[in-house]
Order: sequence, then structure tokens, then C-alpha cells
Amino acid sequence: MEDIDWFSLWNNSMDKVFSNFNVKHDSSLSGLDASRDYDRAVSSDDWAIGRMMLDMMEYDEGSSILDIGCGPGTLTVPLSSEVKSITAIDPSKKMLSLLKGNLSKENAGKVTTINKAWNQVDVERDLGIRHDVVVSSFSIMENDLRAALSKFHSASDNLVYIFWNNRDNDLDRELSLLWEDITGKEHVDVPKSDIIYNALLDLDIYPNIKNFRMQYSFIYDSFKDLVNSFKVMYGCVPTDSVTDKQLIDFLDGWHRHEDEKHYIDFMLYTSMIWWDVHEV
Ligand SMILES: C[S@@+](CC[C@H](N)C(=O)[O-])C[C@H]1O[C@@H](n2cnc3c(N)ncnc32)[C@H](O)[C@@H]1O
Repeated sequence: MEDIDWFSLWNNSMDKVFSNFNVKHDSSLSGLDASRDYDRAVSSDDWAIGRMMLDMMEYDEGSSILDIGCGPGTLTVPLSSEVKSITAIDPSKKMLSLLKGNLSKENAGKVTTINKAWNQVDVERDLGIRHDVVVSSFSIMENDLRAALSKFHSASDNLVYIFWNNRDNDLDRELSLLWEDITGKEHVDVPKSDIIYNALLDLDIYPNIKNFRMQYSFIYDSFKDLVNSFKVMYGCVPTDSVTDKQLIDFLDGWHRHEDEKHYIDFMLYTSMIWWDVHEV
């Protein structure tokens, strides 16, 4: 059987994903902020999504944590009252500023932020120490998988955890049927966790893997905000009024209106891949 080059599979798909997201936004949407919508989704219910992931991880009050692609603090905020220190990395200034606003005064001092993408981080120079736990949740937005995974391993003193989708979520799957009409571009699947797992084997790392589901809800004050947010999040400026109507009809059918708020609910199908750096 011919060997599969898992690294090229990932890197080539990511290149296509990046170029698809370069669709120019309509200038009327430029004031919108997808990071704020993401913040609202993950901070709801006292950070329930992050807490669900943390329940599956091992750490204690003496642990130092490296949270790569921390976003608004999905893991870092609930962790900040439970561990010794956290280094939170994110290339988005907006995400880091949301994170700072979400941390309590008493725990903010435990968190150091670094405004860089993972590929820009030099482990020795930027991090200094190895962290007990390295975690990347939904953040390997990188097109050099070998470098990203090797660097996770070398930055950890004990455990590495990766969370990534194992298949398209139900919303993406439905939306992808509309994708080509809406954006005028070919739909490209984001590479899935099976590639990460197999790439790790090729690096002589033999990880554990667990598949599970998480329910996400995006929350909006109006249906108009909801539609505009999806245009920004999915990089899809409808090409004309017909596709605009298609997107609106689709979101209208999918959304839930309750207590004066508008919700988009979907299930995320996820893998947690993890290993102990001493045991590989
Ligand atoms: C979907 S959010 C996930 C946030 C958070 N970890 C969570 O689980 O909710 C992806 C985050 O990864 C960040 N990100 C994107 N590219 C990255 C990269 N190359 N290195 C590190 N973080 C990255 C984004 O800015 C964003 O905050």
C-alpha cells in the first residue's frame, strides 16, 4: 500500500481554506466583529463549553498551562481560578482584548498573553519555560502541520491536548450546499482530526483519541445581526440579491427565536487527541 502523506493533505487543504476565506467583505459589514459573537457563544452558561473540555483534561493547582489560540478565554478563563499560571497565545488582538475583559481581577495576574500565531512563536525565546500542559483547542489554523505538532511536543513538560473536529458540524454541512452559490467559490472541507492523529503516528508520537459532541449556540439581539454575522464569519458576501435571499431563507429556517434573542444552534463533532511527552 502506498504511504499517505498526511502532512501534505493537511497543508494543501489549509491553503485552500485560507484562500476561500479571503473573500472580500461588503464594506457595510466592516463594523461587525465575529470575535465578539464567538465570545458571546463560549462565555454563555458560565463558560460551559470550556468547562466540558477541561473536565476531560488532567491538571492541578500547581500546573502551568500554555493555551494556544486562546480566543476570548474558553479554557483560560475557567482555568484561571484552578491553576498556577497560564500563557495565552493568540494572533488576534481583538481576541486577546476580549480575554483580558473576561478575566477576574483576582486571577488576571496569573495570565500572560502573547500576541502571535503559533508559527511565529519561538519556544525558547518567547516562552522560556516548558509548560506542564500544552493545549490547542480549535486553533491549528496553520499550513505546516509537521512544524505545529512538533512544536506542541517540544513546548510541553508533561501533557499535550488537541481539540479538533472529526467531521463537519451539521450547520456547516448544510451551509456548504449553498456555499458555491453564495460566495461564487468552490467549497473546501476543513481537514479533520483523523489527519492530525495519523500525522502524529508518522512523528513517532502514539496519542490517545476520544470522540465526543458539544452543543454550540450563537446568540444575537436581532435577526439582521445574525445574518450579517454569518456573512462575516463564513466570508460569504452573497454575489447578488438572489443568493442574499437564499442565505436569509436558510438562516431563517435554522434559527431559534426565544426570549427576544435569536439563536443558531449546532452540534460540533470533536476529537480530543492527547499524549504524555514522556511516554511516546
Ligand atoms: C475557533 S477559535 C478557538 C478559541 C478557543 N481556543 C476555543 O476553544 O474556543 C480559534 C482561535 O485560534 C486563533 N488562531 C488562528 N490562527 C492561529 C494560529 N496560527 N496560531 C494560534 N492561534 C490561532 C484565532 O485567532 C482564534 O482566537
